Amino acid sequence: MRKIGVVGIGHVGATVAHLIVSQGLADTLVLVDKNPDKLASEVLDFRDAASLLPQHVTVTAGTTADLGDADVVISALGHIDLIQPGGDRFTELRANTPEVQQVGTDLKHAGFQGVLIVISNPVDVMTGLYQQVTGLPTQQVFGTGTYLDTARLKRALGDALNIDPRSVSGYMLGEHGASQFAAWSTVRALGQTATELAATYQLDLNQIAADARDGGFTVFAGKKYTNFAIAHAAVALAQLVLSDARQEAIVSHYDHQFNSYISTPAIIGRGGIVGDFSLALTAAEQASLKQSAAAIAEKTAAYL
Ligand SMILES: NC(=O)c1ccc[n+]([C@@H]2O[C@H](COP(=O)([O-])OP(=O)(O)OC[C@H]3O[C@@H](n4cnc5c(N)ncnc54)[C@H](O)[C@@H]3O)[C@@H](O)[C@H]2O)c1
Repeated sequence: MRKIGVVGIGHVGATVAHLIVSQGLADTLVLVDKNPDKLASEVLDFRDAASLLPQHVTVTAGTTADLGDADVVISALGHIDLIQPGGDRFTELRANTPEVQQVGTDLKHAGFQGVLIVISNPVDVMTGLYQQVTGLPTQQVFGTGTYLDTARLKRALGDALNIDPRSVSGYMLGEHGASQFAAWSTVRALGQTATELAATYQLDLNQIAADARDGGFTVFAGKKYTNFAIAHAAVALAQLVLSDARQEAIVSHYDHQFNSYISTPAIIGRGGIVGDFSLALTAAEQASLKQSAAAIAEKTAAYL
């Protein structure tokens, strides 16, 4: 029996739930939201789809107390109305902090021992807060972090080269926010490094990195939320956990060097972060990662 809980069924949580149902990723899916009317409507909408699906998924409305035996819980709670176009994800910090404290405490009381995947913003801070409040091992709590921004980098570079983004490898590192950066030393496509690609195809790497970094707000500008790419990111990570894939992915996880959550790549499997490794970054990239960790700490103090 695979059981997944999704907490916060807004734009993002509803899309996460839809992907789980349509992919048949869980046997039981428990949806939790503090708005009971919206929750009941979402659950009925999914149940109306049941006879049309290729596989059975039991979808129920629940509370955090029902998630004690879940394999994976995804936190998509938040207050998207507090984000300003072109602004900073930290404007949700004050509102989301008590929500995360409450849900984390309830998960602890429910005896949750699975893997907690955090989407709620500012995601690096909210992930650390969940880990503290639940008391779960750091390996079992991680955030989507720059997994999404890395997908945006692959989209931007793929567009510039006119190739499928899956043909691009490499990472956006650091904060899921303004201080993230493209670690160009890690990027490869068409058998070439980023420096070689830039020379061969006359690419503006700074422009491509800015496109990836600002991509969330570019999407936000037209619809005032983002949902599809982040939902695919979270569900892909949940799939790595449930299938014990031991696959490399970039997520926001606990970093001893900075004593905080920040995105660098890790190995994801049944226990969450099941392996860690260091990248051979350039000195400038190492300095940028350190600056990004400092930016997370500074903004946490400034916005709380
Ligand atoms: N990490 C990323 O890359 C990424 C990408 C997109 C959105 N987000 C974040 O995801 C969050 C959700 O975005 P959205 O557009 O779906 O927001 P939304 O405002 O549409 O939905 C949030 C939902 O959470 C619910 N909620 C709030 N507090 C709750 C609690 N204590 N318990 C249960 N439910 C609770 C609300 O009732 C609402 O339905 C936001 O924080 C947003 O910034 C993160």
